[in-house]
Amino acid sequence: MKYHPLLGEELLLNAPRTNKLAPRCVVLVFVAGISFYCVFSVIQVPVNEITSARLESGSTPCPCCDEVDPGRLFYNRVPKCGSTTLITLMRRMAAKNDFVHFNSKVYDRKNADQKEQRRIVMQVKNTPSPCSFDQHVFFINFTKFGESPPVFMNVIRDPVERIISSYFYRRMIARQNRTRLKPGAYWLNKKFEHCVLTPDPECTFMDGHNYSEVQLPYFCGQEPECQLLNDAGALQKAKQNIERYYAVVGTLEHMNVTLQVLEATLPRFFKGAYNVYRNLGVHRNQNPHKEQVKEEIKEILRANLSAEYELYDFVRQRLHNQYRSLVEEPPLDEQTSFLFD
Ligand SMILES: *[C@@H]1O[C@H](CO)[C@@H](O)[C@H](O)[C@H]1NC(C)=O
Ligand SMILES: *[C@@H]1O[C@H](CO)[C@@H](O)[C@H](O)[C@H]1NC(C)=O
Ligand SMILES: *[C@@H]1O[C@H](CO)[C@@H](O)[C@H](O)[C@H]1NC(C)=O
Ligand SMILES: *[C@@H]1O[C@H](CO)[C@@H](O)[C@H](O)[C@H]1NC(C)=O
Ligand SMILES: *[C@@H]1O[C@H](CO)[C@@H](O)[C@H](O)[C@H]1NC(C)=O
Repeated sequence: MKYHPLLGEELLLNAPRTNKLAPRCVVLVFVAGISFYCVFSVIQVPVNEITSARLESGSTPCPCCDEVDPGRLFYNRVPKCGSTTLITLMRRMAAKNDFVHFNSKVYDRKNADQKEQRRIVMQVKNTPSPCSFDQHVFFINFTKFGESPPVFMNVIRDPVERIISSYFYRRMIARQNRTRLKPGAYWLNKKFEHCVLTPDPECTFMDGHNYSEVQLPYFCGQEPECQLLNDAGALQKAKQNIERYYAVVGTLEHMNVTLQVLEATLPRFFKGAYNVYRNLGVHRNQNPHKEQVKEEIKEILRANLSAEYELYDFVRQRLHNQYRSLVEEPPLDEQTSFLFD
């Protein structure tokens, strides 16, 4: 999955060098070069030297105009997966590594309409790079709006643990609400186990029904099919988008590894992040009302969340592979070829 930065330069030098050759050859070499380019940019982890070299030189537009812009980073954050910590970290990194971070306060438009999608695309496009953004929003297809996508990143967690965490978080927020319009005592004090066993719609996950609270739509996208639970097509699309657009998807359970992979893969943004993270002290939105949930209750939920778990395992495997290729690299001073920018 890695290659030497020189490759990018060689490709760029191709065009002027071919001036000496017969015109037919020029066309041939050019077309071959461009195809090679495109195939590479599609199959590679998106952030790479070829892409950045091309953007900086402003050379011929590529026929497959779906290349990632490595100077812009989009963290379409999944709620309840440590995003508070990561945003704090990104703010620090912005100051340290000299880029601008935009934190969104929009929490309720994860399934964004066309207007909101366009607003996000334009904001990303119109901000000078390097820059980074975060927002609770499902994956956005920038290509659909005629723009190159930014580098995406995200962090997810064990699906059932996340559902439990959200359940108690909703109640904590509701309890803190000073207005009289609180939900009733029954809802506020409902036991999670009871909710699952009833089964209460709040804790029920059924095949083919629509759920916007799970993790998969954040990677699949804005289309209604993306919210269909355990849909094979939605799962496939989520995996494809991860391979193609996400430089890193970390997991809350492996934040140490996540931070090291972020730092190695996106040094422009995360250089020095691992140390900063360790000195941050693990800050979590701890919820004192969260109760212990029995393993058999978790098992009931797991059985109904097969696509969520398949995605989670896929992400864990990918993260692990990225980490392994990183530790198998030669010592730091010889490692520059691994760095993408
Ligand atoms: C994004 O939109 C383009 C143009 O409409 C389409 O060709 C492409 O398949 C879409 N990509 C994804 C991942 O949905
Ligand atoms: C409190 O509850 C009301 C009614 O449900 C809601 O409109 C309001 O946004 C809540 N306030 C906060 C701070 O959550
Ligand atoms: C699991 O799915 C089955 C069948 O769709 C449904 O009857 C059951 O209530 C679901 N249970 C939970 C906890 O989601
Ligand atoms: C789920 O959403 C789709 C698309 O919006 C809709 O056609 C379908 O009826 C919904 N399914 C259920 C079970 O609500
Ligand atoms: C992360 O690394 C730090 C320092 O090496 C260590 O103290 C901590 O236990 C690790 N955390 C996890 C979850 O592995």
